[in-house]
Amino acid sequence: MMNVSVVGATGYTGVELVRLLADHPEVKLKTLTSNSFSEEKISDIYPHLSTKIDIECQKLNIEQLQEESDVVFTALPHGISMTVVPKLVEAGLKVIDLSGDYRYQELAKYEEWYQEHNSPQLLEQGVYGLPELNREQIATSELVANPGCYPTASILALAPLLDKGWIDQNSIIIDAKSGTTGAGRKVSLGTHFCEVDSSFKAYKVANHRHTSEIEEKLSLVADKEINLSFTPHLLPIKRGILATIYADLKEDLSSSTIIDYYRQFYKGDQFVRIMPGERLPEIKFVAGSNYCDLGLEVDQATGRVIIISAIDNLVKGSAGQAIQNLNLMAGWREDLGLEDAGLYL
Ligand SMILES: NC(=O)c1ccc[n+]([C@@H]2O[C@H](COP(=O)([O-])OP(=O)(O)OC[C@H]3O[C@@H](n4cnc5c(N)ncnc54)[C@H](OP(=O)(O)O)[C@@H]3O)[C@@H](O)[C@H]2O)c1
Repeated sequence: MMNVSVVGATGYTGVELVRLLADHPEVKLKTLTSNSFSEEKISDIYPHLSTKIDIECQKLNIEQLQEESDVVFTALPHGISMTVVPKLVEAGLKVIDLSGDYRYQELAKYEEWYQEHNSPQLLEQGVYGLPELNREQIATSELVANPGCYPTASILALAPLLDKGWIDQNSIIIDAKSGTTGAGRKVSLGTHFCEVDSSFKAYKVANHRHTSEIEEKLSLVADKEINLSFTPHLLPIKRGILATIYADLKEDLSSSTIIDYYRQFYKGDQFVRIMPGERLPEIKFVAGSNYCDLGLEVDQATGRVIIISAIDNLVKGSAGQAIQNLNLMAGWREDLGLEDAGLYL
């Protein structure tokens, strides 16, 4: 069994990690850390876990993590994560970080969109943890930077088209919607029930951080600098992301030709499901699971391709993808602990 710990276990991605890891056949959960709930059992904070796990949360202690763990997941806010990750790496631990702190290749991009970085040397060491694009590097990595939720849905939707050079790389528009768990568990007015329920709004228009992450990673796929429009929206639901993506085709292609290429591009990627045209992705189909569902149609009238991408932000968009990365690092079957078909209702 591999000894695994979760730093920031009480947040939404942290507790999703605990839920999934508790059932992972090759993993033993060791230390769970929390700032605000230390000395409380995780099953008292989250009673749905009461028959699964009763570990007491503790304040962060690097030496204890070093003694007890082989791999540590850090599920902390960006900026806080980089105060912890370098110490874990120095202690010889393998780390899978869920924050934005180690996702960028380019330091200037991180500092433009986030803040000053305290450990830029680790940006080079960190591998972007999107298995469908970086499987081999992840397998040998000591530090995995798990992708953002919107970037996961967007990059998987666009990579085949950019790989083929079928779209104008400056025409991309990503119109994405997320449930409120995307903002984490901390209380804020913007995600308060009465503010969100029965409404639907765009936010951070033309200035959401994930724009730069999507651009950096897709530029690598296209081998060309990409600038795109990304508009996130807040859905009055708890989990799930649905992105509707538009791009101008450079040639006259049918939907079925493009779908055939998506099937080829994602051959062997069991967590990407290409849906036939008549049935398009819905959040319901992926909620609670590690799948990314993709569907598309060519709009012959405008010469645009319209791609629909759906994921669960807490599974393929964070905790599930992090476990997929653990499986790759450990050389296990990629879907170990992630076989669940999801919730539907
Ligand atoms: N939510 C998503 O859908 C999603 C998707 C992809 C990536 N992410 C990224 O994953 C990370 C975690 O997100 P989340 O949604 O799980 O956040 P969250 O629900 O707000 O949880 C944050 C966790 O970090 C801990 N924490 C907060 N401030 C801390 C501090 N100063 N020192 C130590 N621990 C501290 C909290 O501990 P206590 O409250 O117990 O003190 C809690 O366990 C973020 O970087 C986020 O951007 C989130």
